[in-house]
Amino acid sequence: MTTLIGPFAQILTMDGLNPSGPLSDNDLEVLEGGGIVVDQGKIVAVAPYEDLDDFSGRRIEVETPCVALPGFVDTHTHTCFAGSRAGEYAERLAGATYQQIASKGGGILSTVKNTRAASLEELTSHMIRHAQWMLEGGVTTCEVKSGYGLTVEAEVKMLRAIQNASKSQAISLISTCLAAHTCPPEFSNGSEYLKYLVEHLFPILIQEELTKRIDIFVEEGAFSIEDAREYLLQAKEKGFDIVIHGDQFSVGGSKLASELQAASVDHCEQTEFEQAQLLRKQNVTPIVLPGASIGLGMKFAPARMLLDEGLPLVIASDWNPGSAPMGDLLIQAAILGAFEKLTMAETLAAITIRAAHALRLSDRGSLCVGQRADFSIFPTNDFREILYRQGTLRPSFVYIEGEEVYAL
Ligand code: NIG
Ligand code: FE
Repeated sequence: MTTLIGPFAQILTMDGLNPSGPLSDNDLEVLEGGGIVVDQGKIVAVAPYEDLDDFSGRRIEVETPCVALPGFVDTHTHTCFAGSRAGEYAERLAGATYQQIASKGGGILSTVKNTRAASLEELTSHMIRHAQWMLEGGVTTCEVKSGYGLTVEAEVKMLRAIQNASKSQAISLISTCLAAHTCPPEFSNGSEYLKYLVEHLFPILIQEELTKRIDIFVEEGAFSIEDAREYLLQAKEKGFDIVIHGDQFSVGGSKLASELQAASVDHCEQTEFEQAQLLRKQNVTPIVLPGASIGLGMKFAPARMLLDEGLPLVIASDWNPGSAPMGDLLIQAAILGAFEKLTMAETLAAITIRAAHALRLSDRGSLCVGQRADFSIFPTNDFREILYRQGTLRPSFVYIEGEEVYAL
């Protein structure tokens, strides 16, 4: 049934923006006193409310002054996991580093133990709980990585849990295989492990359509550039989109991402001018993860510089039980924006339209005719309040494909 939702004090469409580089707040299209008309999950009109006077379908009237904007797209999370690492967080606060904890068998491997021990049903229910929490924060599309299984069987279990969760709740979940997260104890070197994945895991991913995306953590203590190159080339050849966890503690991943024309390089805390130029040349999107900087107490990625170099900056939460336990994309984007001097347009584009493009999704991220009707409604008459309140102003309603899926 065709439905009109409104009137809104403002509709922030995020339409017509440059796909990359700096943005000014004047670039934002703000429709005052408008309504959104939805049919079969898609937007069929965004227009001044009075122009919709003779609309005869279902009407959903919005009572208080409020702002509608596209649902947030969180392009990088590890929200399919079991267990907690609060103890490690306490150790880090007391001075231990992330890498020291990992080298003693903690870190990622500690979550691997819990995730391997969890049943498919348990993992699915953790995933659903995390997805619901993100939805309440205005996230309507969320990428989720495997990577805490590290055997064919346990990685497949994770990807099935993501697939099951996707069917049973509202957020759109986009899965990524991160079996190459770290070398598991069963293998003595990374290169043997990666060969095992290509030989035994890739065919199942393809056959069961578990994911279209392959990720790898390129870092000392994880996988070397040489091993990652070999692995990603095989993935590309089999038709996967490739992405890299790179430049988190040392520079390297971004260079490989450029060489292989990966869809994105994620983290970028150590990325410098020279790597930014390579990314630009090869059309690689930098996805920065302020949640990991906050969780580890380390510097933010140089978001301002990346934009000034003409790149399509994207911001994601990296929600995971280790380096980024907060999980709140809006709070993190607002904080990064304050430290890196990002305009509101740049920050909002980085979690909506530019984020959707990073996942190669062209049907969302903006509110215009033909797009999915995925949007959040915030209880304010001025969209600037959303970042001004640094993430503490929460959505009062969330819509996915034109249906209300959350009300405060
Ligand atoms: O993006 N850097 C590697 N992987 C994750 C952390 C995973 C974990 O600590 O469990 C990240 O920060
Ligand atoms: Fe990550």
